[in-house]
Amino acid sequence: MRSSFRLGDPVDIDPTPTLVPRIRVKRRFILVGAWKAYLNDDGAIDLARSIASELGSRDPGFDLAVCPSFVSIVGVRDALRDTPVAVGAQNVFWADTNGAFTGQVTASQLVSVGCRYVILGHSELRQLGETDEMVNDRVGTALAFDLAPIVCVGESAEERREGRTKTRVEQQVRAAIDGIDPSVVAKVHFAYEPLWAIKSHNNPDATPATVEQAAEMHHFIRDTLTEALGAESGSAIRVLYGGSVGPENAGELISVKEIDGLLVGSASVKSTSFLQIVGAVGEVASGSFQDGGGHA
Ligand code: PGA
Repeated sequence: MRSSFRLGDPVDIDPTPTLVPRIRVKRRFILVGAWKAYLNDDGAIDLARSIASELGSRDPGFDLAVCPSFVSIVGVRDALRDTPVAVGAQNVFWADTNGAFTGQVTASQLVSVGCRYVILGHSELRQLGETDEMVNDRVGTALAFDLAPIVCVGESAEERREGRTKTRVEQQVRAAIDGIDPSVVAKVHFAYEPLWAIKSHNNPDATPATVEQAAEMHHFIRDTLTEALGAESGSAIRVLYGGSVGPENAGELISVKEIDGLLVGSASVKSTSFLQIVGAVGEVASGSFQDGGGHA
């Protein structure tokens, strides 16, 4: 089973000389449920209670988190109190103080209700005007409050058709970490989420990226990170896949060498499908990686 890597842990230097030195580190898997705006408060708490009663307090061997809407964070946190499931938010304001910011939720407020993660730059927000610069500001603030950001990056169908996938994703990745303190950058997570693979009311029949497409992009993101941050920090960051993940493909995706975790939307708001995904990730976490082999 893989253990989590922290900066300063011993690393295993890959002897193969490449342009960007590659370091082999062990990155603990992570499964995150993004509940978006699917549920009212009672539905969110019911869902959290079913997850809690099924999972109990046992460590599943990987990190688990759910990100409900702001209004349900406290109730969901309480329902999951004795479980290994952490709670996160779906955005955070960039200002690093509380104050006269109507309609915003600050990092300090999120920490005060027990959030450990925050999803940033989701494509559904980018479509409403969220820019790379705003995402970068939010990443800096989240880290200053010890919240682990999960930065979503990904190309549209049109960008993929026009051969601009890598340019777009590289731009989003580099912008998100630009100027971030190297001592905390390893706490950042990225989620590769091609827009065309995300289920929504506009795209209910979205299909996931193929394993080959996901592997290629995860490899590319890892290379971008090691180029931008150096081998050690660039290898420590976890990169998740998101977009139409369900019980039927979770095991296959998480088995891809470069995929460190899954960000699940629609299939995470039903306890049966979420728990099946938990089971699928658990099998891979306790099976093929028992040798401790990292991916990088
Ligand atoms: P989906 O959403 O799993 O419903 O496709 C993924 C996401 O937007 O994170």
